[in-house]
Amino acid sequence: MSRPAMRVVSGIQPTGGLHLGNLLGAILRWVRMQEKTECLFFLADLHALTIDVEPGQLQSNVREMAAALIASGIDPAKSTLFAQSAVSQHAELAWLLQCTARVGWLNRMTQFKDKSGKNKEGASVGLYTYPVLQAADVLLYRATHVPVGEDQKQHIELARDIALKFDNDYDSELFIPPEPYIGGGTAARVMSLRDGKSKMSKSDPSEMTRIHLTDSDDEIAQKIRKAKTDPEPLPDDPAGLDARPEAKNLLGIMAALQDRSIEAVLGDYAGQGFGQFKPALAEALVAMIGPLRSRLEQLRADPAELDRILDSGAARARELAAPTLAEAYKVVGLTR
Ligand code: TYM
Repeated sequence: MSRPAMRVVSGIQPTGGLHLGNLLGAILRWVRMQEKTECLFFLADLHALTIDVEPGQLQSNVREMAAALIASGIDPAKSTLFAQSAVSQHAELAWLLQCTARVGWLNRMTQFKDKSGKNKEGASVGLYTYPVLQAADVLLYRATHVPVGEDQKQHIELARDIALKFDNDYDSELFIPPEPYIGGGTAARVMSLRDGKSKMSKSDPSEMTRIHLTDSDDEIAQKIRKAKTDPEPLPDDPAGLDARPEAKNLLGIMAALQDRSIEAVLGDYAGQGFGQFKPALAEALVAMIGPLRSRLEQLRADPAELDRILDSGAARARELAAPTLAEAYKVVGLTR
């Protein structure tokens, strides 16, 4: 099979709404990449089944997340946008890859340990094999680059290992071991506004820990006002933030919003306290999120158009996926 020079594939779970961690860690980088190369982005609704979701909610969550991606700048005319479940090849390839992946490899996945908590025996098998489906998501399209936040790095490395073992075991050259493509600075890992040591996450029970695309200007300002900080003035050197995780996180968010280094941002605020810095950060966030929120509201008003975009994305994705899956069946000896 011919090898694409560069193909970008990435996904997001359609649960909990888009937050600032998703935006800075992944989505805004997806938007930039679609200008340069072929991109496929999908709503990982099969992955969403690994945690409890209301069946009646799933479809509207998919539409809502698709609208949020388009509002953030994903252009369906440039990128292929679709729901994972609409392309059955993902689940089919995942099964073949489950026979390649080793139990020992999955046992090392930190996300399973975090998500299953103390009740490992009671976790679903889907939660355990989740990274194998994720490997299928990217290997199916022979992706070269997978733009993700730092928390997904281990999963993409597993996809590489699976690709290499599959081709080695079957003496084939089917898969391209993908590269995780992680943003620099703090964007790679945006932290909770209430605890600079844990990542901003949709699963945190407190809304005050994260900023959503749907938050009003006032809510954004309030969350930043109440964000945990310390009473020290800001240093002039980034090394002065090392033992101050909450301060480092807020400075990192500002740097990512302005597309500058933390050092450059500190150049503006060194010696000042959070009383000065927080209002400026809130203003920068409102300036970025406000227009995205208005676009999201418009897009929501036309669910039929969202369905049309997703259907046409799925048709294109199926076309790209079919030859890889057919070849994978052939390689393992199941000719169809
Ligand atoms: P998900 O839905 O949790 O997150 C979507 C993207 O947002 C990034 N992200 C963050 N980046 C920086 N700081 C944060 N606090 C933060 N929180 C989330 C994630 O790294 C991700 O890039 N398993 C994936 C979805 C998936 C996928 C794939 C991704 C399924 N198949 C194939 C890439 C390729 C997930 O749950 O992401």
